[in-house]
Amino acid sequence: MTETWQTANRANWDERVPVHLRSYNLAPLRAGRGRLHPIEEAELGPVAGLRILHLQCHIGSDTLTLAQQGADVTGLDFSEPAIAAARALAAELNLNARFVLSDLYAAPQTLPEPASFDRVFTTWGTIYWLPDIDAWARVIAHFLKPGGTFYFADGHPTAYVFDDECALPDGRPGYFCPYFHQDPLIQDDPRDYADPTARLANTRTYQYSHPISRIVAALLSAGLTLEFLHEHASVPWRMFAQLVEHKDGLYRWPDKEWLPLAVSLRARRPATDTLPAQDPI
Ligand SMILES: C[S@@+](CC[C@H](N)C(=O)[O-])C[C@H]1O[C@@H](n2cnc3c(N)ncnc32)[C@H](O)[C@@H]1O
Repeated sequence: MTETWQTANRANWDERVPVHLRSYNLAPLRAGRGRLHPIEEAELGPVAGLRILHLQCHIGSDTLTLAQQGADVTGLDFSEPAIAAARALAAELNLNARFVLSDLYAAPQTLPEPASFDRVFTTWGTIYWLPDIDAWARVIAHFLKPGGTFYFADGHPTAYVFDDECALPDGRPGYFCPYFHQDPLIQDDPRDYADPTARLANTRTYQYSHPISRIVAALLSAGLTLEFLHEHASVPWRMFAQLVEHKDGLYRWPDKEWLPLAVSLRARRPATDTLPAQDPI
């Protein structure tokens, strides 16, 4: 089979599922006290009673956290083992959530429920796996009810310019990938971010950088309005070796806030709108 961004990335994600089932801290969720990270907890607002679509839900830990908080939630991911793990976790915890196996770009066909969600939610490690940010935004707009909102939080594209692989003598991360790089960043890396001892066999990944202006422009072109865009000097994982973990579970710079580490935004589908005439998604 010819390798594409999709087949390579899916094989890589499939293999991470058992690793993450061992290494993600699912104890609070299992104890009935699941929490999102402090950034999105503070910004998302109450979810009880809302119909939420969680894109790229992985093993469903955040999806089920939202279900535990009273949302009627649907998780979607293209990894079969991830969706199987999410369904098993939902059954184990007796939580009512639906999980759909689908590539994000095929979601309008797999999940024929346009304009039916109060919220679309996607966080931490999502758009860097997607080549077409305009089509991504159209998928989001497609599923939102008029008046519904999209919430996004992820690593800041500026921070992804830097990496520990190119560290400076003082340990700060060095230049790694240009901000406006347009081609896929193809890497062969057996490591996993959640378990330093894990070694993956499906090492090849295709990732894509999306400047902030392109993310916002894609959402606006899809017919959404931007309500806020926040830059954070904290992030929920050790993005760089130098970062220091704080009591709230977020990682920050040890001294000066050199770069933003995360970005979050909320965009709304206007209450009375007709979405712009669009190319097929
Ligand atoms: C870093 S994880 C997201 C993690 C999630 N925030 C969590 O808390 O578990 C990225 C997920 O995106 C999924 N993914 C990557 N490309 C995709 C695509 N084209 N369509 C659907 N899912 C995709 C992967 O299978 C993986 O589960």
